[in-house]
Amino acid sequence: MHTLKTFKTFLINTNTMELPFAESWKIKMVEPIRKSTRAEREQWLKDAKNNIFMLRSEQVYIDLLTDSGTGAMSDRQWAALMLGDESYSGSKSFFELKDTITRITGFEYVIPTHQGRAAENVLFSHLVKEGQVIPGNAHFDTTKGHIEARKAHAIDVTIKEAKDTQLEIPFKGNVDLEYLEQLLKDNQGNVPFMVLTVTNNTVGGQPVSMKNIRETCELCHKYGVPVNMDSARFAENAYFIKTREEGYADKSIQEIAKEMFSYADSMTMSAKKDGIVNMGGFIATNREDWYEGCKRYCIPFEGFITYGGMNGRDMAALAVGLEENTQFDMLQTRIHQVEYLAQLLDEYGIPYQRPAGGHAIFVDADKVLTHVPIEEFPAQTLTCELYLEAGIRACEIGYILADRDPVTRENRFGGLDLVRLCIPRRVYTDNHMKVIAAALKNVYDRRETITRGLAITKEAPLMRHFTVELERLGE
Ligand code: F0G
Repeated sequence: MHTLKTFKTFLINTNTMELPFAESWKIKMVEPIRKSTRAEREQWLKDAKNNIFMLRSEQVYIDLLTDSGTGAMSDRQWAALMLGDESYSGSKSFFELKDTITRITGFEYVIPTHQGRAAENVLFSHLVKEGQVIPGNAHFDTTKGHIEARKAHAIDVTIKEAKDTQLEIPFKGNVDLEYLEQLLKDNQGNVPFMVLTVTNNTVGGQPVSMKNIRETCELCHKYGVPVNMDSARFAENAYFIKTREEGYADKSIQEIAKEMFSYADSMTMSAKKDGIVNMGGFIATNREDWYEGCKRYCIPFEGFITYGGMNGRDMAALAVGLEENTQFDMLQTRIHQVEYLAQLLDEYGIPYQRPAGGHAIFVDADKVLTHVPIEEFPAQTLTCELYLEAGIRACEIGYILADRDPVTRENRFGGLDLVRLCIPRRVYTDNHMKVIAAALKNVYDRRETITRGLAITKEAPLMRHFTVELERLGE
């Protein structure tokens, strides 16, 4: 039995270990995955014409292609599916979803769509006309695609610092306000809206600060230009504001999200990311005229306005997902894992877009495969090497994705050439992160021996990276 004295000693024992960080969930269901041999992978990649989109998922050990629709739903989300109301109109699940969105974002009008690009299609059908200019902090490729397909111009106004992968600043997704103002001045009357993407996926899942969101929206409004927030990863952006921006440490994620949206006029959402559902999206706004305009396109493209491309059960699961993933613990668990992978890469000296992004690490392929000429697509080459090494499927966010200039038809080699290691939500453990880092280290260690890349043998005129076919050079 403890005497009072020994009990006290126990209490003040300075050797008490600080408890390590751990996930804010436990696992109830698992999905087996399988390793393969290098010989198998050589054959599979050849059959896939060196395009990892063409691989079958069974040929992949750890799948980092995207965090879109690949997250693990919670027990509460699966339970919500059973309560989904599949009524063609006036579905109870729609109103649950709408109320959740209005509570989190402050937007009253909600139009569900089958995914994010469908939300863009509906909104842009109402807003975009030929010849117009739409500024944005690195438009996502479908966003740019929807603008360019309407013969309008998507102009990137991200801060220049975002291009320096080794520069460590807290809000690398920010808008360059000076450049934006110049653009707004030069194109007065020809800018239907601006796209503000949070977090900024294309430059590495980098956040936009509240200050920059506010100033960007104020500047646009000064020129009579509304702002649409591309919100696929708005909750991760709110997490970074809370943890990095002065004045937000004591605010909840939902309070921060509400403030972010309060400056904007509308949002388009790919719910497959921060909504943690496998399919879904929506448009939300307080502008009645936009809502009326969108309704006209939603019905023929997506479906009736109370389901717009989603099942009742999917809307029910999304309402729960949005609520869960705007809680601090959930976001902390996720971003901690991405940062853990970054730490391992730091140990091995592998260069990536710094600091670690919210949903992914973007490896700087130009700095890894320095002997592969840019015309031979270093990032695509590194993506293939990583797959051959360990069956890990990453994704090129580089020169292949950048497509050709619509006028000159030249390859656009001006931007970054990155390999995205995108982490699905609540799917892999930190042990998987160790495997990813080790595989990348092996490729990194033999980088001097990789001197040739790939050549395109077939490509689509727009968004070629999904279906491009390539051959290995120097074989
Ligand atoms: N906006 C952003 C910022 C995105 O990252 C995406 C999709 C979309 C819009 C389009 O949404 O896929 O639901 O139609 N990004 C995925 C990715 C595909 O892998 O980054 P969607």
